[in-house]
Amino acid sequence: MTENDFLPGNYQKLPVKGKVAWKAPSNIALVKYWGKRPVQMPANPSISFTLDTCATTTSVAFEKKDNNTGFSFDLFFEGKPKDDFKPKIQTFLERIEKYLPFLKEYYFTIETSNSFPHSSGIASSASGMAALSLCLMDIEKQLDPALDEASFYAKASHLARLGSGSACRSIKGSLVQWGKHKNIPNSSDVYGIEYPFEVNKVFRTYCDTILLVHKGQKQVSSTMGHQLMHGHPYAENRFQQAFDNLDKLKPILASGDLEEFIKLVESEALTLHAMMMTSMPYFILMKPDTLEIINKIWEYRETTKTPVCFTLDAGANVHLLYPDAEKERVRDFIKNTLAKHCENGQYIHDHVGKGAVKIKG
Ligand code: PMV
Repeated sequence: MTENDFLPGNYQKLPVKGKVAWKAPSNIALVKYWGKRPVQMPANPSISFTLDTCATTTSVAFEKKDNNTGFSFDLFFEGKPKDDFKPKIQTFLERIEKYLPFLKEYYFTIETSNSFPHSSGIASSASGMAALSLCLMDIEKQLDPALDEASFYAKASHLARLGSGSACRSIKGSLVQWGKHKNIPNSSDVYGIEYPFEVNKVFRTYCDTILLVHKGQKQVSSTMGHQLMHGHPYAENRFQQAFDNLDKLKPILASGDLEEFIKLVESEALTLHAMMMTSMPYFILMKPDTLEIINKIWEYRETTKTPVCFTLDAGANVHLLYPDAEKERVRDFIKNTLAKHCENGQYIHDHVGKGAVKIKG
């Protein structure tokens, strides 16, 4: 499928009003997306675990208006009007209008809330854009009931990608791959797909505890970080490495080889941050406590032989990944050894989920 496949078919009668709601999870990449081409096309393929506890719930009420001259919406975040989110939504609507031409026909009331603590430093753009895209697709489905399930989810992922790249991996499935790769059938730059190969059962229930090291605003946004991959001295090698790592991951995911899984995932996380440190201008998003935690994880793994590892997103927080069977021991380790490196001792226990769900009205 290409982007043109997402242009709408014939709409039937437009409903006068209605309301839809979806809950979409966050995700954590194992092979990272870092670097893009316009508009929101990844420079390399990536794959992520879908999370469960960390999620955004969004409802969209829609009411037909008597003109179609512009976008018209109000936005509430955790019950309060949130005008500073509006420009981002406006840009998103402009980008997706050609795929959803009914958008100017309605006045929308968008209400959104996160399951994770307020300003915890967890990026909510992936879950937020995924939930909003699913709501808008739900409205489209009412206008075009012939839309089948596979096209519904593929198009929702495509729309979410136009809001925030990694959001396209927060729609459906527990392991989601995004970005064209010659050895992955049906892989695409324009939307995420459920990982099509065998996945060992250990990964179906994998745990991710997010250690909240730094909850403040990042000094460099991921938009800026992606941009700095243009003309980056190591960009081409890095992109090739991501392609190769997806190949390497295939037998690891099938067999449940945790030793190889750990090596690949930690190397991806450190490579992502190495790209930041070798950009021009260069920057560092890790904090001293990020490094303290990494060293303690390595020490714990060495002495107890427990298969725990870390990954990082574009920030200082650490995602601690471990099999469900190790949950009790690892959670003691977190409480006793790692929590002191978290801001206000805060962390969130999460695990692999299955994707977004519709909220019944
Ligand atoms: O979706 P964006 O533009 O916020 O970029 C996300 C990039 C990383 O989180 C660092 C990696 C990834 O693949 O999720």
